[in-house]
Amino acid sequence: MNDKRKYNAVITGLGMYVPDKIYDNAYFEKIVDTTDEWITTRTGIKERRILENGATSTLATNAALDLLEKHNVSAEEIDAIIVATVTPDMFFPATACLVQDNIGARNAWGMDLSAACSGFLFALQTGSTLIESGRYKKVMVIGADKMSSITDYSDRNNCILFGDAAAAVLLEPTEDKSFGLIDSILRVDGSGKESLNMKAGGSLLPPSHDTVDKRLHYVFQDGKAVFKVAVKSMADVSYEILKKNNLTGEDVAYLVPHQANLRIIDATAERMGINRDKVMINIEKYGNTTAATIPLCLVEYYRAGKLRKGDKIVLAAFGAGFTWGSILISWSME
Ligand code: UT7
Repeated sequence: MNDKRKYNAVITGLGMYVPDKIYDNAYFEKIVDTTDEWITTRTGIKERRILENGATSTLATNAALDLLEKHNVSAEEIDAIIVATVTPDMFFPATACLVQDNIGARNAWGMDLSAACSGFLFALQTGSTLIESGRYKKVMVIGADKMSSITDYSDRNNCILFGDAAAAVLLEPTEDKSFGLIDSILRVDGSGKESLNMKAGGSLLPPSHDTVDKRLHYVFQDGKAVFKVAVKSMADVSYEILKKNNLTGEDVAYLVPHQANLRIIDATAERMGINRDKVMINIEKYGNTTAATIPLCLVEYYRAGKLRKGDKIVLAAFGAGFTWGSILISWSME
């Protein structure tokens, strides 16, 4: 995959935003029939952040501004903005347009990308391809979801899982092929559509009194069915990307898994032969923030000084669609 490219896409900037409001497990003990013990042992989640005022573009804009400020980049330098989300402010215009306007990126084009929990991986590959083409110099990729806007807080199976957040990366070209996005394996399988979806609001079931009465504007998930496929798919693809690149778990500095369930994360790490201390985990603080989980981990671990230039990092995700995949990165920031 690497050979024909003149440029690799490297991450040169990071930003994040989480709202202040916290729903801890004790809060859910009050609103549905659940316990802190059940949530902790079944998912690993202790708290999630909730955006009280604003929308996904609010989260994404704050993450973008954090990136620009921390890395001293002007908004006018940005060539393109890709926002991975399943909770856009509106069907159209795209959230990317709203972010562009909010940050003043007047030279940028952009779009939203819908791939649920794999959204950041798919957007990272898309943004990297723009960079590798040589046509674009600075592409911002944002994973952002206000999951609280599509979460049914009367459904104990789902409401304990999700939170709101956004995180962003800046991609730039390098001719040094030892850094940046090295390889990716990305997959979709639409036959998984019945197990994880939001049924109404689209062209299939436009909003009506009936769809509202039947609570069809919320996330539906057959947890057990998704769990089984998620464990196998995420573990398989992460193992496959190592094999394809002649690497073992020993060569990897970090696995950065989508944060849906600590048990899925552990199964993936085990299959790859990677110890827990080399797995980025923050699910206990934020729950499942869909497109934001992976970049949020990257930002937090980078800012904690845990990443070294040249570190081999495997990103892995599984989500609605089904969508899943792995991306291998050679870390480029000091
Ligand atoms: O991010 C995108 C992809 N999504 C995923 O990867 C999520 C995959 N699925 C999961 O993470 C897990 O399936 C869940 C965390 C959603 C559920 O965990 P589980 O171990 O699969 O539980 P379950 O659905 O099999 O339910 C076991 C029991 C049931 O009771 P019965 O039927 O055994 O009497 C549920 O009704 O736990 C019950 N239950 C709860 N109990 C207390 C379900 N939710 C709760 C709850 N509190 N919040």
